[in-house]
Amino acid sequence: MSVSIGVLGSINLDLVASGAPLPKAGETVTGARFAQHPGGKGANQALAARRLGAEVQMIGCVGDDALAESAMRLLREDGVDVSGVMSEIGTATGVALIAVSPEGENQITVASGANERVGAADAAGLEECQTVLCQLEVPIPAVEACLQRAQALGARFIANLAPAKPVPEALLASADVLIVNEIEADYYGQALHQGSGLVVLTLGREGAVLLKSGEELARVPAFEVQVVDTTGAGDTFCGALAVALSENMSPEAALRFASAAAALAVTKPGAQPSLPTRAKVDAFLADRGL
Ligand code: RIB
Repeated sequence: MSVSIGVLGSINLDLVASGAPLPKAGETVTGARFAQHPGGKGANQALAARRLGAEVQMIGCVGDDALAESAMRLLREDGVDVSGVMSEIGTATGVALIAVSPEGENQITVASGANERVGAADAAGLEECQTVLCQLEVPIPAVEACLQRAQALGARFIANLAPAKPVPEALLASADVLIVNEIEADYYGQALHQGSGLVVLTLGREGAVLLKSGEELARVPAFEVQVVDTTGAGDTFCGALAVALSENMSPEAALRFASAAAALAVTKPGAQPSLPTRAKVDAFLADRGL
């Protein structure tokens, strides 16, 4: 039986220029290729979980412009429940301007648009589920309300603290799982470890670590793959970890599953187009005897 996951978060259209060196401040670079894909950390994580076999409900907000349908296309095609996604009249759909270097590293600037209209009241739309998953590309009161809604539903609450920004200490202390990369871990410091929940630290090519009260419980190395585009790798990891924990995998197996999904995602361009299916992740692990 499928696990159930509710995601409240951002929905963007990603405008991607890839293949040219990343520009420094004030610099112009030429020679890039252009592509556009659906994106946004919330939508990416929702779709990642869906492709890995979960029933997923997405709550978010798009504008009433021509970009909205493009931003929602893959969520709809893959069967994410988007009945709770609002369309805000007179507002622009969120857009991310993404530069991807020949080595697959990226720079992202987000024009949040309609994502800023997601409010605390919207969390009430989250239906019964095993896990509620949030990120920080929507206003913080909405994320706090998700924590309360998850508690009311008896669901696990996972917060991916990306991008890093101030959040109430109570949110950090009460989350069941916090997911951070190295930049976010530096930003929050010891505040991450004050609660009794799990903290998952992703370390890129160094793998991932799971801690509780500052004590390491599990660690997995990164998988060696040919990196094409790292955009959305963190989102893939978060969606996959939400699925793995909802399926009651052990901490180590959950980290391994999420790392495998993220490794597959970086081998293809774009965030959402690169999200792997469950069959691909299972085969990737089986090929390695895992
Ligand atoms: O994490 C990658 C995502 O960040 C992109 O899809 C972009 O939309 C930004 O939200």
